[in-house]
Amino acid sequence: MGSTAITLEDARTLDRSDPFPHRRQSFCLPDGVIYLDGNSLGALPIATPGIVADTVQGQWGRSLINSWNDHDWIGAPARIGDKIASLIGAHPGEVIVADSTSVNLFKLLTALVQMNSDRRDVVTEMGNFPTDLHIADGVAKMFGKRLVAVPSNQIVEAIGPDTATIVLCHVHYRTAFRHDIKSVTERARAVGARVIWDLSHSIGAVPLDLHADGVELAVGCGYKYLNGGPGAPAFLYIARDLQPEMISPIRGWMGHANPFAFDDAYVPAPGIDRFLAGTPPILSLAALEAGVDLMLEVDQHALFGKSQRLFQMFADLMAARCPDFALISPDRAEHRGSHIGFAHPQASAIMNALIAQGVIGDFRAPDVLRFGLTPLYIRFEDIWQAVDILAGIMASGTWRLAQHAEIKRVT
Ligand SMILES: Cc1ncc(COP(=O)(O)O)c(C=O)c1O
Repeated sequence: MGSTAITLEDARTLDRSDPFPHRRQSFCLPDGVIYLDGNSLGALPIATPGIVADTVQGQWGRSLINSWNDHDWIGAPARIGDKIASLIGAHPGEVIVADSTSVNLFKLLTALVQMNSDRRDVVTEMGNFPTDLHIADGVAKMFGKRLVAVPSNQIVEAIGPDTATIVLCHVHYRTAFRHDIKSVTERARAVGARVIWDLSHSIGAVPLDLHADGVELAVGCGYKYLNGGPGAPAFLYIARDLQPEMISPIRGWMGHANPFAFDDAYVPAPGIDRFLAGTPPILSLAALEAGVDLMLEVDQHALFGKSQRLFQMFADLMAARCPDFALISPDRAEHRGSHIGFAHPQASAIMNALIAQGVIGDFRAPDVLRFGLTPLYIRFEDIWQAVDILAGIMASGTWRLAQHAEIKRVT
């Protein structure tokens, strides 16, 4: 795409060949807002309020506690887990929905470190999403291990005979850099170590095929590209062969082989549900399932294909109209996820000014403007308009007025 030549009409022409022409209508998107933050909190699917209302009134209200059986509340973590499994190239019975990504990471990492107790190192990436670093550091300290945090391009060399386990985000939350999941996993296996992949920025964003890539362990978010709602439950994946060896450090009753026997002694469930802890959050699960069901209708390769075109247009327009911003995301599609980041020394104030004009992206300290590319509901026209508004903010200097506004948002 020629950079200076992209017009609003060009963008609209691209929208007319959208592979998902009607998908945008499946989401509630307020008028006057260009939502480029679906990689942080996905938009609300139109179906969700009705599904949650039915779970509350129709199920909880009418069937009360019988709903655990009558409406299969008890099966929700595994049922939604199986749906997620089919999105990421895992098998039924290998994914369970529970807790938050942070807690799931803690559970998997602790189990793994205990299995590999003769090894010293937990390897991770410097500048990873903080929760991954904090959890890895905490678990390493609990078990007398050494945390080895290295830059992204030194991960492979850092994995060696002393490595007990590796914790990595598949797609980096700031830059969108995507690790080569297969080669890192193979390197780990070659030295007898295992990787836990955090798929928070890849599920529903880039095609995943965990079995083909040899991946054995993963966690990920429900509230980003899966559109499961604020604080939606997260998921964890353990390849079937590994499940019998892995014991959750949180021995809750829901992970028991027979929770309703109310035994004093803990016996882990035979399968992935041993990684459940407490009672599943049914209302949140109902919202998550609505988001997952939507995502299941979409071909993940076509989705990422559109994401690539959105990215390219964004990058080209920025180079032409906002040359003071430095692209920090990889320009090759196979090396990135589905967001785009630009560095600018005044990024915070500029993002505040953008949000004030209805373009919702994210600021990531110290100097990054981050924009989520969610092809189900973002149009090419939205990208064009967003860059046009940004160019206007820069030309008029209105961002200076937003310098002291403080906007706090989660993740
Ligand atoms: C890569 C990554 N991992 C984990 C999390 C946080 O997960 P949770 O809040 O479910 O613990 C985030 C949140 O943005 C994230 O970007």
